[in-house]
Amino acid sequence: MSTNPMRVAVVGLGFVGLPLALTYAMKGARVIGVDALPNVVEEINAGRSHHLESYEGKTLPEILREQLAAGRFFATTSYEEAAAHADSYIVTVGLPVYNGDPDLGPLKSCAHSLGGVLKPGDTVMIRSTVVPGTTEEVILPILEERSGLTAGKDFYLTYCSERIAEGRAFEEFIHMPLVLGGVNEESAEKGRELLAFISEAEVTLSDIRVVETSKVIENIQRDVNIAMVQEFARFAEAFGIDTFELIKVANTHKRVQLLTPGPGVGGYCLPNALYYLLPKAKELGVPLTLLQNARQINDGVPQVLTEMLERALAEVGKTMAGSRIAVLGLAMKDFSNDDRVSPVHQLIGLLTARGAEVSSYDPAVPGHYEHKAESLSQAVRGADAVLLTAVQQAFTAIDWQEVVSQMADQPILFDTKNRIPRELDKLVRVLRV
Ligand SMILES: NC(=O)c1ccc[n+]([C@@H]2O[C@H](COP(=O)([O-])OP(=O)(O)OC[C@H]3O[C@@H](n4cnc5c(N)ncnc54)[C@H](O)[C@@H]3O)[C@@H](O)[C@H]2O)c1
Repeated sequence: MSTNPMRVAVVGLGFVGLPLALTYAMKGARVIGVDALPNVVEEINAGRSHHLESYEGKTLPEILREQLAAGRFFATTSYEEAAAHADSYIVTVGLPVYNGDPDLGPLKSCAHSLGGVLKPGDTVMIRSTVVPGTTEEVILPILEERSGLTAGKDFYLTYCSERIAEGRAFEEFIHMPLVLGGVNEESAEKGRELLAFISEAEVTLSDIRVVETSKVIENIQRDVNIAMVQEFARFAEAFGIDTFELIKVANTHKRVQLLTPGPGVGGYCLPNALYYLLPKAKELGVPLTLLQNARQINDGVPQVLTEMLERALAEVGKTMAGSRIAVLGLAMKDFSNDDRVSPVHQLIGLLTARGAEVSSYDPAVPGHYEHKAESLSQAVRGADAVLLTAVQQAFTAIDWQEVVSQMADQPILFDTKNRIPRELDKLVRVLRV
């Protein structure tokens, strides 16, 4: 290791920040993690984390404990303490969305704290997904005002979008192509050096506003693709053809890349992306009709699924009210422990509001919910319908015939993930979207 190691502070120790901090530490940097929540910091310093990431055969908590023991990483709530140990800051504090409005509060508060401890020569890299324009219009003025320093001259300010997918974070920090902007050339160069410490991927340099906007539209194109596929799925159902077969066949065309429909679009990234673009688009007077329609379609999927299930129950003389419904998978996507903005919660809310007795099962999601069962058999026993809404490792070996044998008479399976074997169609009613 060099006698003068890279000293970096990662601000925000969530799904992105913690594995990012550990990646720097694994590469030999001295890393300090900063989070506003004392309990998050306490858990991390005790070597505990619920994150499901892994790298080269080691789980994230194992990597965390190794790096803590090696003295290359620790966490704090104190920006002052971070400043004593770092000359580069990577910010991963997010913008939550409430009722369609992005809340810049946490990011502004972070900039405020960071501005109070910045030293001449420091580098600040923003990796949060933001409303386009945020780095230069919001963060830069706060940092300059609080520090009395000038961006691009006394300190360096750069934006690099974060493109990792949860579950593949360590690998993608190293190999995912990056895009980077700086408030000036020197800032971009400092940003490039900071990235090169862990990344082996190509870095495309561009204007900060382009990089910020690109990140948001990269997410929106997936949201729109999925909304389009939802409409194809409705068509396929009405036409009596298999949606998943239809997508598979269309995707044999080299220039077609349809995603799969699922129970709606969840997580922190895709549903929020439109709400990051909208404020800027409104300010500029640009209509986003297609994108807003797509979001509305995706938001409406749990309602569509509820109605499909209601019709299927009616066909066997049952009503939603009083039916027992098991929901397998609470996560916002397959093999994830993250159920933030998961459409499955909305679905469960709709089923419950119609009088169903819902029992859910997801061994990967740590959250406690009243409807959550302890085991698969506890969830499915006596169920009138079982919905598969997210795949987890524990679900890959499910014996569906065994599941059916534990359910009520005239059971219904509802597969939103194309995982239930087609042979089951001969035994029971299987809905697929
Ligand atoms: N989760 C993903 O897969 C993913 C992928 C790409 C990009 N992103 C983007 O990365 C950013 C972070 O996402 P995440 O999923 O890690 O979020 P997260 O909520 O898991 O983590 C953010 C952390 O920041 C902390 N925080 C909030 N305010 C703070 C402050 N003022 N000072 C210090 N810490 C503060 C929170 O306590 C939290 O632990 C977001 O902008 C998100 O859109 C996320």
